Amino acid sequence: MVLTTISCIKADVGGLAGHIVVPEELKNIARKHLQKNGIKKKIIKDFYVFNCGDDLELLMTHSRGKNDEKVHKLAWDTFVECTAWAKKTKLYGAGQDLLSDAFSGNVKGQGPGIAEMTIKERKSDPILVFACDKTEPSAFNLPLFKIFADPFNTAGLVIDPHATAGFKFEILDVYKHLMATLETPDELHELLALIGTTSTYAIKRVFKRGDLPPEEAIAAEVCTEKLNVLAGKYVGKDDPVAIVRSQSGFPATGEVLEGFSLGHLVSGWMRGSHKGPLMPVSMEDATPTRFDGPPRIIGLGFNLANGKLFGPKDLFADISFDLTRQRCLTVMDYMRRHGPFEPHRVSEKELEYTTLPRVLEKLKPRFKKVK
Ligand code: 13P
Ligand code: 13P
Ligand code: MG
Ligand code: MG
Repeated sequence: MVLTTISCIKADVGGLAGHIVVPEELKNIARKHLQKNGIKKKIIKDFYVFNCGDDLELLMTHSRGKNDEKVHKLAWDTFVECTAWAKKTKLYGAGQDLLSDAFSGNVKGQGPGIAEMTIKERKSDPILVFACDKTEPSAFNLPLFKIFADPFNTAGLVIDPHATAGFKFEILDVYKHLMATLETPDELHELLALIGTTSTYAIKRVFKRGDLPPEEAIAAEVCTEKLNVLAGKYVGKDDPVAIVRSQSGFPATGEVLEGFSLGHLVSGWMRGSHKGPLMPVSMEDATPTRFDGPPRIIGLGFNLANGKLFGPKDLFADISFDLTRQRCLTVMDYMRRHGPFEPHRVSEKELEYTTLPRVLEKLKPRFKKVK
């Protein structure tokens, strides 16, 4: 049985005019590199290079499985080559997400974000890829909950006999690196008790319930790398990607997209330190500008056929998301008026890896004991 692995590996290797956007030239360098060193050398079958804001995204398909050294090295080398050009061009934050100088067998823990899944291709296999800028992995908690566990979002949970059994969620404690698996609908409330705490828990994977093998059960995978925790200091936000499968027993594509229709509040935005609405936009509008935001998400729809990617369809480039965007703009403006006050600015704990502790340190001697 030939299985297909979809790997989306991403890094911020430099932004044009600040943390705004990946210039076209940089994407072309990545495309050339993947063509020459990936396709020609038969390491990967297909690829699609795109960006969300200042994050460069390499979507690749192959039959080498997850965590494959050659695929990861291909991505790493692509980022290194892009970084060299970014440094020469003095792009802002050139090489921002590459935390080490050398590749050590796997890009995990080295800065780039990774979402990978290995699947048995179905008769028709729609694959949806979501990429964010100016936010963190747990930004996917609310939408993934709605998509896979909320019958008010996903009609299939009620009327599709292949979906009524529900789904299984892998939840990661992003600080302690502990994982728990909960199943819905049975453990719906316990699941919410965890994933509502977006500062600690992130949904890592979603599977169909039952005893299907993982290549048939896998429904979604999120990249949960915490850049600042890895680096021990603020180097930028994690800006996650997610891969979601739709149709035929999974939620329909429209049910998946419905999960993003609120424009919910997430952490990130300016200096990775502010809460704001996650605005679903077209690929063209993935340019966070006002206060380096508001946080953005784009959606790309593909059909996978024998390892080849057909597409993408720019999923949020549609008038049906105009109202969500309008709401996001109103909420953005309201949140901005709070300036440096919580809850617009994130809590002190979330600022642990930013430059705030240095400011507070300076003020320490000013505090005198109150009698
Ligand atoms: P499938 O169950 O074949 O995915 O069709 C459902 C659907 O697309 C309804 O919108
Ligand atoms: P990025 O994480 O997208 O690089 O943004 C960093 C930042 O500080 C934005 O204000
Ligand atoms: Mg950046
Ligand atoms: Mg970014």
